[in-house]
Amino acid sequence: MIVTIDGPAGAGKSSAARQLAARLGFRFLDTGAMYRAVTWYCLDRQINLQDEPAVADAARRMHLALDADRVFVDEVEVSHAIRSAAVTHDSRFVAGNYAVRKHLVDLQRRLAAGKDVVTEGRDQGTVAFPQAECKFFLIADPTQRALRRQSDYAARGEQVALEEILAHQTSRDQRDELREYGALKPAPDAVTVDTSDHDLAGVVSRLEQIVRERMRCAGERGA
Ligand code: C5P
Repeated sequence: MIVTIDGPAGAGKSSAARQLAARLGFRFLDTGAMYRAVTWYCLDRQINLQDEPAVADAARRMHLALDADRVFVDEVEVSHAIRSAAVTHDSRFVAGNYAVRKHLVDLQRRLAAGKDVVTEGRDQGTVAFPQAECKFFLIADPTQRALRRQSDYAARGEQVALEEILAHQTSRDQRDELREYGALKPAPDAVTVDTSDHDLAGVVSRLEQIVRERMRCAGERGA
């Protein structure tokens, strides 16, 4: 079974998806980490992020591996490096690159083929897995989302002003929503969950309940 969780940055998707996958015994696929890894690779190799063919070549050339929460590029662990403010900021060039999106969506489908997966991103329910059995779209109040991002940076030792995060977040949301391919939007059959006033455990329990109900119905139909 494929469970997709899409939504804007800071809506709590990653933590919810990770915990939901653990509760269900499913694999967790963090597709944002893939865009981040390509961004990190280009910054590291000084590939101009605005040179779309060069970035697409790099994405195809690099060996990207995901192992639960760990991310490897050409066998080097980049799990921590891909969370920097610089990578977060520059990932927009990679996310807007159609050839890279196509390549990463193919990779996402290969990684999920024949498996039980909770996959998290922007376009998982709409583009990557339109046939997914269970789709969620997580939203949250913009200030709460920025505060979450700020504490993520603080945990890494990076102090970033809330106003700066909010400004980047707003422009990132707009770019995500207006992108020609893989735009951030709920699939028509997605369940929208507002995480603003709920703790993580409550959100995960709600998602788990819906997934288990779908699994039960699918089981009954198959019986
Ligand atoms: O979710 P996260 O902040 O890790 O995403 C990193 C970058 O990848 C962002 O720029 C986001 O817009 C992009 N992204 C995307 N499609 C996905 C997942 C993330 O364009 N499925």
